Amino acid sequence: MDFSLSEEHLMIRDAARDFAKTELLPGVIERDNKQEFPTEQVKKMGELGFMGLMVDPKYGGSGMDTLSYVIVMEELSKIDASASVIVSVNNSLVCYGLEAYGTEDQKEKYLTKLATGQSIGAFCLSEPEAGSDATSQKTTAIDKGDHYVLNGTKNWITNGGTADYYLVIAQTDREKKHKGINAFIVEKGWEGFEIGPKEDKLGIRGSDTHSLIFNDVKVPKENRIGEDGFGFKFAMKTLAGGRIGIAAQALGIAAGAYDLAREYSKVRKAFGTEICNHQAIAFKLADMHTEIEAARHLVHKAAWDKDQGNNYDMSGAMAKLYASKVAMEVSVEAVQVHGGNGFVKEYHVERLMRDAKITQIYEGTSEIQKIVISRGLLRD
Ligand code: CAA
Repeated sequence: MDFSLSEEHLMIRDAARDFAKTELLPGVIERDNKQEFPTEQVKKMGELGFMGLMVDPKYGGSGMDTLSYVIVMEELSKIDASASVIVSVNNSLVCYGLEAYGTEDQKEKYLTKLATGQSIGAFCLSEPEAGSDATSQKTTAIDKGDHYVLNGTKNWITNGGTADYYLVIAQTDREKKHKGINAFIVEKGWEGFEIGPKEDKLGIRGSDTHSLIFNDVKVPKENRIGEDGFGFKFAMKTLAGGRIGIAAQALGIAAGAYDLAREYSKVRKAFGTEICNHQAIAFKLADMHTEIEAARHLVHKAAWDKDQGNNYDMSGAMAKLYASKVAMEVSVEAVQVHGGNGFVKEYHVERLMRDAKITQIYEGTSEIQKIVISRGLLRD
């Protein structure tokens, strides 16, 4: 067993680390305050190949493995979790979904633009009444021969306002329950497709979250992904990989908060010495570091499973469940180490604490991860 990263993995880590420090850090507080999408930064991440990290170079991607992807996600998330969720959704939900299950025409038309960051993608499964209970889709896609007609509402869609292409899950045949669900590629600007107001959020405020409304939107049949009725499986299979990306995001948030707490504890003085010399603080750092290291092992193991062609439903769910808990706990402790300064925006830790919460909610809540894990354990 070899725990060291290869030269290539170290290079991509350093490139992502450098990008996060030079391009994401300046302005991250202002973007959070104003809920401003990092348009310029996303463009640059496209140029660096971060928007299609795992996609085959023949479709414009970087052709890297899942381990590279989680390494990049960790580095970006240490500084700016709003930017990293844009990367995560584009890579592991949209690009992966199209590359694994799309037709050659769909890949030519859409994936090539998404993988280079020329276009941005969104993944639209959640609805006002179908969050965790994802089979209860109310959005309908009625088969009209050469096209489908889409009606309904999607909620909490990441990249909702900024995306160019949307993967939309909808019910075609209610009698067939989840086997009557389909997935479609929908383009921004199609008649009847409306973007709802932007959500005012607790965290990841630089990312763009909207509801979407479909009113008799005509979707050509060639924009359906996979066979008729494949939509729910498509969503589940795609989300299994997405959860590895969000686990890496949570890991990055925790690691970023820990880095700030450690540095602060070495300069802040109380009772005549730097606070890191007090066991009350040193033990916090020890706990934080240990938990982060454990989370990193779970995240890398899930990525390794995917790269090996192993099933990664359970390892991805375990990584997300654990890393998101660590992100929450470590970021709260990092604020505590900073004392009064932790409550102030310029020290960054309060933002990381707010950003951490969503990692326990999106791409399957922690409770849903426990369903996936326990079902996996009890299957045989
Ligand atoms: N791979 C392949 N198929 C799968 C699967 C997987 N990982 N998981 C489930 N399925 C299949 C099952 O085999 C079953 O098909 P068959 O009947 O043919 O066997 C079918 O899907 C239905 O499965 P279940 O009976 O297990 O369905 P369920 O109603 O009990 O729900 C669930 C399962 C795991 C709870 C699922 O509903 C779920 O994952 N819910 C959470 C949804 C979620 O993660 N939403 C996130 C929104 S996207 C987002 O947040 C993106 C963003 O913007 C950041």
